[in-house]
Formats: sequence, C-alpha cells, structure tokens
Amino acid sequence: MPPEVTNKGTGPPSSTDSALYGMILENIDRAVIAFNQAGRITLFNPAAEALMECSSRQMIDQHYQELFKGQETLLYLIKVALEEGRPITDDEGLYLHRSKAAPLPINAYAAPIFAHRGDQDGVVMIIRDLSRIKELEGTLRRADRLSMLGTLAAGLAHEIKNPLGGIKGAAQLLSRELTKKSSLQDYTHIMIKEVERINFIIEELMDLGNPRPPVIGDVDLTDILDNIILLQREAVHCQSIKFKLKLDPSIPPVQGDEDLLTRLFLNLIKNAREAIPHKGEVLIETRISSNYHMSSPGKRSSPMVDITIRDTGCGIAQEEMDRIFTPYFTTKSKGSGLGLAISQKIVEDHHGLLKIESSPEKGTSIIVSLPLHR
Ligand SMILES: Nc1ncnc2c1ncn2[C@@H]1O[C@H](COP(=O)(O)OP(=O)(O)OP(=O)(O)O)[C@@H](O)[C@H]1O
Ligand SMILES: [Mg+2]
Repeated sequence: MPPEVTNKGTGPPSSTDSALYGMILENIDRAVIAFNQAGRITLFNPAAEALMECSSRQMIDQHYQELFKGQETLLYLIKVALEEGRPITDDEGLYLHRSKAAPLPINAYAAPIFAHRGDQDGVVMIIRDLSRIKELEGTLRRADRLSMLGTLAAGLAHEIKNPLGGIKGAAQLLSRELTKKSSLQDYTHIMIKEVERINFIIEELMDLGNPRPPVIGDVDLTDILDNIILLQREAVHCQSIKFKLKLDPSIPPVQGDEDLLTRLFLNLIKNAREAIPHKGEVLIETRISSNYHMSSPGKRSSPMVDITIRDTGCGIAQEEMDRIFTPYFTTKSKGSGLGLAISQKIVEDHHGLLKIESSPEKGTSIIVSLPLHR
C-alpha cells in the first residue's frame, strides 16, 4: 500500500509525508539541490550526486558560489530565486561544467522555498540531464538528412545506371575487337573495372535510398562478432593491430536481420581498424545496458544491449563529427563515405541507437544499443 498523503499544504508535513517526500527525492532522476537563505547546501539528492560526481556528505553546507564557480547562468538563477524570491528557469544551450567529467547539456530551474508562515526559507534548484535527449535529436537530424539525400540520390543513381551499362557493353565489345596482345587491352580493362566500381557504389546508394526491409529472426551477436574479427585479424596480419573481445556470453539472441547486423558491425570494425595508422587496439564489448529501455506507445519496454567498438586510432575532430554520417563524406583516399550512413540506417531499422564519442588524443568509441525484444 502506498503511504497516504495527508498534508494538503496547510500545516507542517506529517511523518508519513516526510517519508514519502524523502523517497521521491531518493528516486527521482532530476538533481535536486536545496540551499538555505545563506546560500549553503542543505539537501543534495542521489541524482545530484550522480550528475555532479560528488557525494552528498562532501557537498552539504558548501556555498552555492563554490559549487557553481564560474558558471554564470546557474549562479544567476540561484541569486534571483534567493534575493528576489521568484522562480526562474533556463534551458537555452546550458551546460553543466564538472571538474572530473565532460560538460553536460542540462536545463535548470530555481525556485524559492516558502516556510509554512510564508517566509522564504532558501531555494531549491532542479537540474535535468539533457544528454539523452540531445543524442536522440542528433539521431533524428541525421535520419532526416539521410532520407532526403537518399531519395534524391536514389533517383539520380537510377538514371546513371543505364548509360553506365552502355559504356560497359561498348568497352567489352572493343576488347573483343582488339587482339589479345594489343596494348590497348589495358585501357579496356581499366574502363570495365572502373565502370563496375561505379556500379557498386551506385547500388549501395540505391540501397540507402530504398533499402530492403529487415528480415527479422534470432541473431546471436557473439557469433557475428566472432566471425567478423576472424576475418579482420586475417586482413591486418602484418600490422600491429590487436583485436580484443569482451563478449558477455549470457546475452540472449537479439531480434534482427543477421545480414544487416553483420554489415553494420563490419562497417564499424573496419572503420576502427582503418583509424589506426600503425599500432593500436580495437576493443569490442557487449553488455546488457543498465540504463536504456526503448519503449514505443502501446509496447512493453525492452532491455537494451550495448555493443561498444573502441579504437585507439586517430579520433575524429569535433568539426567533422556532424559530417561523418553524411553520405559520401570520407577522409580516406579509397573510402566511399557510405559506411556510417548505411550503419545509421541499419541501427534505425532495428529501433536502436548509435552513439559516438571521439577525441583525437584517445580514439573513438561507437556504442550501438539494440533492443533485446521487438
Ligand atoms: N573509428 C573511427 N575513427 C576515426 N575516424 C572515423 C572512424 N569511423 C569513421 N570515421 C571518419 O568518418 C568518415 C566516414 O566514415 P564512413 O564509414 O562513412 O566512410 P569511409 O570509411 O570513409 O568509407 P567506406 O566505409 O565506404 O569504406 C571516415 O572517412 C573517417 O574520417
Ligand atoms: Mg567506413
């Protein structure tokens, strides 16, 4: 039985109310930080501990100017709530800067706390972590761009395929007309090979614009990843690239299209390998995600499995981060630039998420989260 709420906002809270309020603060996923009139912390809930990466014990009694040193907007919000006694919020491109971790996109709300006689007794600040929402927005933006480009490009690709067939046919005829030993045969071979290469790129592009629907079945991720690594080890046998696998054997099969998922992980692992110039490591890890549950309306939520591909390669510059999913964006002399665009599409078709973290010093991590059930 849930505890009965007896306080209607008139008198001081009863002990049942306090227990309920305490439980809510313990479990809520927003950081709740309360300050007294002197600006010192009186409450720091577990979500605040997780967000700020410090314990409540360390934080209690610290002054808000110390806590948010150098973070003008947050300082301003508390100051307004404290001195002017009015609620105030900010969700325009606000970031929480932390000493031990990367800045986090947030929105923040500060409001005065009024005691029962109506006197102000401090301020409460509520901070919401927006990183997950930002990730989803990024995925949607990329998907939009892809579908627009895909439709346009697929139409164009279709038109190119016909004359290309003509060029290849003519080159084959020419080759037949020439004697086997003719030095001109080299040219006809190049023509045929290059036409085939364009044809392959165009087929990939048409796939992107109008891919076949996934054929869903049970897919054993461990099997897929083991097989890919076997081939990749073969491909790099003369380079000093180490492949490490940390696969959780207890992960049940995911519901997906085996061919498409193989293509996805092959693209990502190939990218990781290609990012390492001489010597380095590619780590592939699978685990059940503790955080994410993908739910669509009317469907039960599903646990997710995270597949991380981490390399110690050259990393991706911040200014390139937004472009790498654009079809044909490549920094490689022999790349088509379609690998990530296709990968993104496959992940979407599996109702999953693709997250990328990279820095030129440390290398790149790509995390694919796939739902375990459909
Ligand atoms: N793990 C990675 N490390 C560093 N850069 C990467 C990584 N993965 C992708 N990139 C960058 O993103 C670009 C686009 O990748 P994508 O897989 O789409 O195309 P590509 O690898 O260049 O060509 P293709 O996949 O067709 O062989 C790459 O050229 C590279 O600059
Ligand atoms: Mg690639």
